[in-house]
Amino acid sequence: MDHFLYRDGVLHAEDVAIPEIAAAVGTPFYVYSTATLTRHYRLFEEALAGMPHLVCYAMKANSNLAVIRTLADLGAGMDVVSGGEYRKARAAGVPGDRIVFSGVGKTAEEMRLALTGGIRQFNVESEPELLVLNAVALSMGLRAPVTIRVNPDVDARTHEKIATGKKENKFGIPIGRARAVYAEAAALPGIEVVGIDVHIGSQLTDLAPFEAAYAKLADLTRQLRADGHAIRRLDLGGGLGIPYERSNADPPLPADYGAVIRRTLGDLGAEIEIEPGRLIAGNAGLLVSSVIYVKSGEDRDFLILDSAMNDLIRPAMYGAHHDIVAVAEPAPGTALHPYDIVGPVCETGDTFARQRAMAPLVAGDLVAFRSAGAYGAVMASEYNSRPLVPEVLVRDDHFAVIRARPSFDEMLKRDSMPEWLQARDDA
Ligand code: LLP
Repeated sequence: MDHFLYRDGVLHAEDVAIPEIAAAVGTPFYVYSTATLTRHYRLFEEALAGMPHLVCYAMKANSNLAVIRTLADLGAGMDVVSGGEYRKARAAGVPGDRIVFSGVGKTAEEMRLALTGGIRQFNVESEPELLVLNAVALSMGLRAPVTIRVNPDVDARTHEKIATGKKENKFGIPIGRARAVYAEAAALPGIEVVGIDVHIGSQLTDLAPFEAAYAKLADLTRQLRADGHAIRRLDLGGGLGIPYERSNADPPLPADYGAVIRRTLGDLGAEIEIEPGRLIAGNAGLLVSSVIYVKSGEDRDFLILDSAMNDLIRPAMYGAHHDIVAVAEPAPGTALHPYDIVGPVCETGDTFARQRAMAPLVAGDLVAFRSAGAYGAVMASEYNSRPLVPEVLVRDDHFAVIRARPSFDEMLKRDSMPEWLQARDDA
């Protein structure tokens, strides 16, 4: 459920009419709903109620400072994957002891940053990383709290680019090597083992792969405890999918996911950490865009929008589906027309949807991409020298720009001329 509904024939974000934001900000823009972010965060809180737990929002899904603070104010921890995300979490006011640091390629510099600012744990992904972290921590006179990410070799049955739990993927250590690596970790004076970590992929629409992975994790927990390791925390990663296509069967709910966790891991007395990103932010955001032209091709009509693959890359990159709706609600019974919905970027990959049935649209009409709050703005680029899309946050009947569109002057100033090309500017 989200808070983007038609009222009096106009799409609203909570109590704000989308055209009102478009008039103030210009298109394209991303708009997020505080009520939806809050609701989705709370669904996870409720799903884990009664078990010691921390919901660590995966910031990679949407790392705007205002989004982070909204969630942090509700009690969320953060899952970060870079020094940049760590700094953003701290800048948004998240205490270090609520931040977990994931990622296959943490640098010594990022480790130092997190150890200096405070960190709940590093989710270590390899033996070389363990050795570097040990050295960094010792050089600072500290012990670094770690979980080790194990790769359980389960098929997440999701898009190959976002599946992470098979043995051929680059993530974690093979679960079969876990005992040896934990023994190695326990012998390192700069390392404090606190738990185990797993994350099998993203946009999972079936609970069976989670269940299989968590059952393996339960066995491993018992084994490692028997080996003498203090396994206090189990970080289960993120990955629960969202309904991108309203017409399709809905994926399982956080409550169903919570039941799997309880069933597989509930009796271990460990603190459960989860790292959901998409389910919290995805359906809390729209990308709003204007129709620039309706172009009749030889055998089809194109809706050419002012947003493009650089603004929302998921369709081009993963063949992802996003529902696209008219901001002005079509009258009931309006005959639908098939359009290829495209952006202005100069490649055919810049196609959002082919032969999508829509009520007829004309130049100047506003449309909204649904489910664009996760992996939308964060994956945007300035390809074709198109300015980064601004972001807007709505709460009840207010809205605020939470990242402004850069001016072309700002964009020009980001590049600089080497001295041998400057003559003309000086003349
Ligand atoms: N934890 C770890 C270690 C992860 O790698 C990820 C996502 C998450 C948590 C959050 O997963 P979520 O709950 O959002 O599914 N750009 C792609 C998605 C990449 C996901 C990468 N890792 C997309 O647009 O579909």
